[in-house]
Amino acid sequence: MPFHQVLLLLFFIFSCLFFVTIQTRHHHSHSEHEEFRIESHVSVPPSPAPEAAAAVDGPRYSVFNVLDFGAIGDGVTDDTQAFKLAWDTACQIESAVLLVPDGYSFMLQSTVLAGPCKTVGLVFQIDGTIMPPDGPDSWPRSISKRQWLVFYKINGMLMQGGGLVDGKGEKWWNLPCKPHKGINGTTMSGPCDSPVAIRFFMSSNLTVKGLVIKNSPQFHFRFDACHGVRVESLTIKAPAQSPNTDGIHIENTNNVQIYNSFISNGDDCVSIGAGCYDVDIKNITCGPSHGISIGSLGINHSRACVSNITVSDSVIQHSENGIRIKTWQGGSGCVSKVKFRNISVEAVRNPIIIDQYYCLTKNCSNQTSAVVINDISYVNIKGSYDVRSPPMSFACSDSTPCINLTLAQVELQPATRGRVVANPYCWNAHGTVVTQTIPPVYCLMEETNVTIDNTNVCG
Ligand SMILES: *[C@@H]1O[C@H](CO)[C@@H](O)[C@H](O)[C@H]1NC(C)=O
Ligand SMILES: *[C@@H]1O[C@H](CO)[C@@H](O)[C@H](O)[C@H]1NC(C)=O
Ligand SMILES: *[C@@H]1O[C@H](CO)[C@@H](O)[C@H](O)[C@H]1NC(C)=O
Ligand SMILES: *[C@@H]1O[C@H](CO)[C@@H](O)[C@H](O)[C@H]1NC(C)=O
Ligand SMILES: *[C@@H]1O[C@H](CO)[C@@H](O)[C@H](O)[C@H]1NC(C)=O
Ligand SMILES: *[C@@H]1O[C@H](CO)[C@@H](O)[C@H](O)[C@H]1NC(C)=O
Ligand SMILES: *[C@@H]1O[C@H](CO)[C@@H](O)[C@H](O)[C@H]1NC(C)=O
Ligand SMILES: *[C@@H]1O[C@H](CO)[C@@H](O)[C@H](O)[C@H]1NC(C)=O
Ligand SMILES: *[C@@H]1O[C@H](CO)[C@@H](O)[C@H](O)[C@H]1NC(C)=O
Ligand SMILES: *[C@@H]1O[C@H](CO)[C@@H](O)[C@H](O)[C@H]1NC(C)=O
Repeated sequence: MPFHQVLLLLFFIFSCLFFVTIQTRHHHSHSEHEEFRIESHVSVPPSPAPEAAAAVDGPRYSVFNVLDFGAIGDGVTDDTQAFKLAWDTACQIESAVLLVPDGYSFMLQSTVLAGPCKTVGLVFQIDGTIMPPDGPDSWPRSISKRQWLVFYKINGMLMQGGGLVDGKGEKWWNLPCKPHKGINGTTMSGPCDSPVAIRFFMSSNLTVKGLVIKNSPQFHFRFDACHGVRVESLTIKAPAQSPNTDGIHIENTNNVQIYNSFISNGDDCVSIGAGCYDVDIKNITCGPSHGISIGSLGINHSRACVSNITVSDSVIQHSENGIRIKTWQGGSGCVSKVKFRNISVEAVRNPIIIDQYYCLTKNCSNQTSAVVINDISYVNIKGSYDVRSPPMSFACSDSTPCINLTLAQVELQPATRGRVVANPYCWNAHGTVVTQTIPPVYCLMEETNVTIDNTNVCG
C-alpha cells in the first residue's frame, strides 16, 4: 500500500475512533442502556469499512457492535435480544453501522427488525456468522415458521460484509411433507411451513452486497413490496436436492438490480413473482438449480402483472431450466417486455421454456383464462441442453396465445451426442425467428391476426 494511502487509512481510523467516542457518549447520556460499556468495545471500524464512511467529507457513522449489547456469539446462546437492542439503538441515529463482528457465531430466533429508522445511512455489517435455531424442533412453537429475519419498513439500508448467513436448513428439508422425503416417494400432507432466511418487507432503497448465505430452510432472500433493491456479489449455496431453496425471490417489487452473483441451490436461482417491474439481472452464475424464472403466476385465478424484466450476461449450468416463464391456468394479467440476452447454458434440461400449464399435482383442470404473455425476446442464448427435454418449449395457453416472441442467435446443442433429441415445441405461440436458430424453430405462428384482450393486459 502506498504511503499516502496508509496515512489516509490512519487518519480514517482515528477520525472514526474520535467520532465513535463522541457518539457513544452522546448515546449514553440519553440512553437507558447504560450498563453496556460501549466505548470500551467500539474501538475498531468494521472491516471492510463501509464505503460511505471512507469519504472524509461523507456522513460519519457510529458503530454499534452487537457484543456491546450483550451478544455472546458462541453459536449456542440466544443472541436475539442483543441484536434487537443494537438495532433499536442504531435505528435512532442518523448514520449507523450495526456490526456483527468477525470470529463469532450468533444464534438468533425469528425476529422482525422494524423501521422506520431515523437513519439515513444504515449499514448492517455482517463479518461474523449469524444463524437460526437448528431445525423445526428447536423453533419456538409460538413463533411463525415462515420467516426468520425480517426487515420491515426500512428506507435505505446497506447489508454487507465478509460474513456468513448459515440457514441451517437440513432438518427442514427432511420434514416428511417435503416433496422428496415422503414415505416411499409420496409427499405427506402439511402443515409444512419452513422459514425464508431473510425477508425484506415494505422497504425501499436496499443494497445487499458481498455476503455468503447458505442452506436456507426455504427461500434465501425474499423481497416483498419493496422499491429500489440492489443485490450484488452474493454467494448463495444450497444442495441441488434441497426443496424450495430459491436464491432470491422478488414479489410486488420494482426497480431491482441483481448483479454479479453465484447461486446454486435446489430451486430457482432468481424467481420473479407477481407485481414486479423494472428488474435488471446481470452476470449471474446459476446452477445446479432450477434456473431463472418468472412465476409461477396466476395461481387460484389470481391476477399477476410482470413487465420490463431483463436477464443478461449470465451462465446457467446443470439446471432443470434455463430461462423460464411459468403460469397457472385460470389467472389474469400479463407478462410483457421481457428480454433474455447473452445467456450461456450448459447441460440445462429446458434452456428456454414457457409453461402456461404449470400445475403441481399434474391434474389441474383446464381453464378458460390465463396470464397473457407478450413481447418476450431471446437473443444470444447459446450452449448445450440435456436431451431429455426439448431445447425450446413454448407451451402457451389455449385461451390466450403468446404474442410477439422473438428469437435471435439462439444456438443449442445436445449435451450428449448420438441420442434422439426432441424438437422445439410450440403450442399456440406466435412470434418471429429473426436469425435462424439451432435447432431450427418452425413451429411459431405468424403474428398476423392475433389480438389480445386489452382489459387483461397491464401497462
Ligand atoms: C439510499 O440509502 C443510502 C444508504 O444506504 C443513502 O445514502 C441514500 O441517500 C438513500 N437514497 C434515497 C433516495 O433514499
Ligand atoms: C413403503 O414401502 C415398503 C416396502 O415396499 C412397504 O412395506 C411399506 O408398507 C410402504 N409404506 C407405505 C406407507 O406405503
Ligand atoms: C461478474 O461477477 C463476478 C463475480 O462477482 C465478478 O468477478 C466479475 O467481475 C463480474 N463481471 C463483470 C463484467 O462485471
Ligand atoms: C425498464 O427497467 C429499467 C431498469 O431495469 C429502467 O431503466 C427502464 O427505464 C425501464 N423501462 C421502462 C420502459 O420503464
Ligand atoms: C389456492 O386455493 C386453495 C383452495 O382454496 C388453497 O388451499 C390454497 O392455499 C390457495 N393457494 C394460494 C397460493 O393462495
Ligand atoms: C456475455 O456474457 C458473458 C458471461 O456469461 C460475458 O462474459 C460476456 O462478456 C457477455 N458478452 C457480451 C457481448 O456482453
Ligand atoms: C389431483 O390428484 C390428487 C391426488 O392424486 C387429488 O387429491 C386431487 O383431488 C386431484 N385434483 C383434481 C383437481 O382432480
Ligand atoms: C386440457 O386440455 C388439453 C389440451 O387441450 C388436453 O390434452 C387435456 O386432456 C385437458 N385436461 C383436462 C384435465 O381436461
Ligand atoms: C415485439 O417485441 C419486441 C422485442 O421484445 C419489441 O421491440 C417490439 O416492439 C414488439 N412488437 C410489438 C408489435 O409490440
Ligand atoms: C386475418 O383475419 C381476417 C378476418 O378474420 C381474414 O380475412 C384473413 O384471411 C386473416 N389473415 C390471415 C393471414 O390469417
